[in-house]
Amino acid sequence: MIKPIRDSHKEMVGSLEKELHLASCIDFPQAKTVVLEEDNHVLGFITWIQSDDEVELLNLGVNPNHQGHGIGSQILKEWFNILADSQVKHIFVEVRESNAIAIHLYNKYGFKLNRTRLNYYQNPSENALEMRFDYE
Ligand SMILES: CC(C)(COP(=O)(O)OP(=O)(O)OC[C@H]1O[C@@H](n2cnc3c(N)ncnc32)[C@H](O)[C@@H]1OP(=O)(O)O)[C@@H](O)C(=O)NCCC(=O)NCCS
Repeated sequence: MIKPIRDSHKEMVGSLEKELHLASCIDFPQAKTVVLEEDNHVLGFITWIQSDDEVELLNLGVNPNHQGHGIGSQILKEWFNILADSQVKHIFVEVRESNAIAIHLYNKYGFKLNRTRLNYYQNPSENALEMRFDYE
């Protein structure tokens, strides 16, 4: 079950952000992070910012040694339960156009393509797909 991040997890999440080539968001003051851990070892995490009724999903990451075993799906599913208690109406996430696994995952959980942001990413340069989930 996902849990709020503790101080002892922060370094592990920071390392995972780097290893997974994700933006470094763990220290954003307004960001919230929850982790899925086992024996105080972070298997995966999700970081987001909420502003009024909108949420921006900043990072979803799973330890490379544990990818492909349903952890990303589990985190996303449990995260939706957390959000259900807030007043959120829309969720946005940006993802590299080539990131087929993440796009598949977001589609599976009801996100739709909102727009393509040309050359949004650097190193390497790539378009971003902005995906959007709307609560009914
Ligand atoms: C994207 C990510 C979070 C997915 O986590 P995960 O635990 O590996 O994913 P899951 O095991 O839950 O699988 C999710 C879906 O992708 C599919 N999938 C997983 N690995 C796959 C692979 N190597 N090739 C093809 N499909 C794959 C699974 O079959 C599953 O689909 P299904 O439920 O329809 O069968 C993980 O790959 C990751 O950390 N990637 C790097 C960081 C990143 O890109 N984050 C997203 C941008 S914010």
